[in-house]
Amino acid sequence: MSEEKTPINPEDEFVDDPQRRNFMSALIAGASAAYAAGIGYVIYRYLSTGIENPDANLPAQIKIEKAETLVNNSSMPFKFGSKPGILIKDDKGDLHAFTSTCTHLGCTVSYQGDQKRIFCACHGGVYDPQTGKNVSGPPPAPLTAFKIIKEQDGIFVSKA
Ligand code: FES
Repeated sequence: MSEEKTPINPEDEFVDDPQRRNFMSALIAGASAAYAAGIGYVIYRYLSTGIENPDANLPAQIKIEKAETLVNNSSMPFKFGSKPGILIKDDKGDLHAFTSTCTHLGCTVSYQGDQKRIFCACHGGVYDPQTGKNVSGPPPAPLTAFKIIKEQDGIFVSKA
């Protein structure tokens, strides 16, 4: 049983037009190439934005403005590039600096001088203010410490 083509409009004729077929093939090939190029560009941008190394765009060191005004057993926030940090002056006058992003789920931690601890209010995570070590609660890792550099013109931090 042979299959007969039925024109939508009975007055139309089926015409096997190679020029039209070639045009449609070229159009589909062009659209496919543009789609593949778009996906390739997105992958290229993803791989070249430093996502593999998020520290790639961080500064070598920064000055913490007014750090010298910090009194014992208190803290102040700072920004190290795009990373939030916390500078702590303990009750002996020693300075400690850490990233202030909790290693559990990324909340911002704060220093609680009365309890001598770095605390994350989101889920009760606690860190040691001397070392940044996670000491209780859900945080799975310590806070990253910064190196503190005391210069005549101020206090600086850099990656440890
Ligand atoms: S985000 Fe800090 S303890 Fe959960």
